[in-house]
Amino acid sequence: SQTVTRDDDGVLTVGGIDVKRLAEEYGTPAYVLDEDDFRSRARAWRTAFGEDADVFYAGKAFLSRAVVRWLNEEGLNLDVCSGGELATALSAGMPAERIAFHGNNKSVAEIRRAVEAGVGRIVLDSFQEIVRVAHIARELGVRQRVQIRVTVGVEAHTHEFIATAHEDQKFGIPLAGGQAAEAVRRALQLDGLEVIGIHSHIGSQIFDMSGFEVAAHRVVGLLKDIRDEHGVELPEIDLGGGLGIAYTSDDDPREPHEIAKALTEIVTRECEAAKLRTPRISVEPGRAIVGPTAFTLYEVGTVKPLDGLRTYVSVDGGMSDNIRTALYDAEYSVSLVSRSSDAEPMLTRVVGKHCESGDIVVKDAFLPGDLAPGDLIAVPATGAYCRSMASNYNHVLRPPVVAVKDGQARVIVRRETEEDLLRLDVG
Ligand code: LLP
Repeated sequence: SQTVTRDDDGVLTVGGIDVKRLAEEYGTPAYVLDEDDFRSRARAWRTAFGEDADVFYAGKAFLSRAVVRWLNEEGLNLDVCSGGELATALSAGMPAERIAFHGNNKSVAEIRRAVEAGVGRIVLDSFQEIVRVAHIARELGVRQRVQIRVTVGVEAHTHEFIATAHEDQKFGIPLAGGQAAEAVRRALQLDGLEVIGIHSHIGSQIFDMSGFEVAAHRVVGLLKDIRDEHGVELPEIDLGGGLGIAYTSDDDPREPHEIAKALTEIVTRECEAAKLRTPRISVEPGRAIVGPTAFTLYEVGTVKPLDGLRTYVSVDGGMSDNIRTALYDAEYSVSLVSRSSDAEPMLTRVVGKHCESGDIVVKDAFLPGDLAPGDLIAVPATGAYCRSMASNYNHVLRPPVVAVKDGQARVIVRRETEEDLLRLDVG
């Protein structure tokens, strides 16, 4: 995990730099990301899956050019799901053949760009898209490697908005009623497409491996049906991302090597039973790699005790830099990081500066009773889906991402400025 320590005055140090210095130099709020931690998590996934599998980092969790370079150096591939993510990946030198392109509604322009760039795979999400991609590939005179995303019908135990394997939602093609088999049948007939495999992503922030096991079982069942009907053994399966991380001490995440072992065993076993050649496995972790590597550093503003209820601690950011609490009821922890304190802990709610009472960063937390304006507090595990889902609500400027390593800090995504905002306003 992050290389965090405290000095004698209780000041938190990360990657060899203390947070007071970071706040002075880069301002607050800021996402502080530990480069070594990112690299070692990426490497752990890579090593766990070995040479017979591929790890695609899910760029939606957090993507920047520095991140793309780190991934490239650590031997990971990249999953993108929009033209913007694709452009970032290509501009930072990720080889196109190591990019997978996702999305339930890729535009024609996005598909064309991806095919022209030569992406290693496009994950097809609907019957219409099968035809659309085949058509574009033919026009461009190529055979595009594709996977077909299926919904296996398992209930992943996570928040409804981030569960994706039940059938009543927008992603993928249901296995049920032979729809996925029909999709494969059609795709195999189109000469613009080379069908390389089946894709399943069951959801996000999942701790229980059983959903993945059921998914693997059902995907292998489909591979077997395809073999029986067409005499083709598809060479790859992708089991998506979704592995949970610890937001608070209640969460107990699985390690990459446990996940790799479990997934590889189940796929191998199922394939042996079905007398299939074991396909090459790939996975797409996003949160599990980047989530724990960053915290958000805030400065405390107003401290408002409400008798008999709790103390509201306002910070200089909020739902614009972390929408997850408002959107998913997510749990976070928080601590005072600019000094030590022996004061009695008080029940607090950490809130932002936005004009909305749901603008909550940390719902329930204990912070020292002498907390005061100017103190720095940190909310850990904000590396995933915070900067990437940040907004300009209330024309608040999106915070920078500051990468720390070996006592050095550098901005990898700079803070937005008022000029940035006004540049877009051309009315
Ligand atoms: N692969 C596919 C096809 C996905 O849709 C996703 C996430 C991932 C991989 C990566 O999942 P991860 O390993 O990061 O859980 N905004 C939500 C999460 C949405 C995830 C969407 N898809 C959140 O903040 O919890």
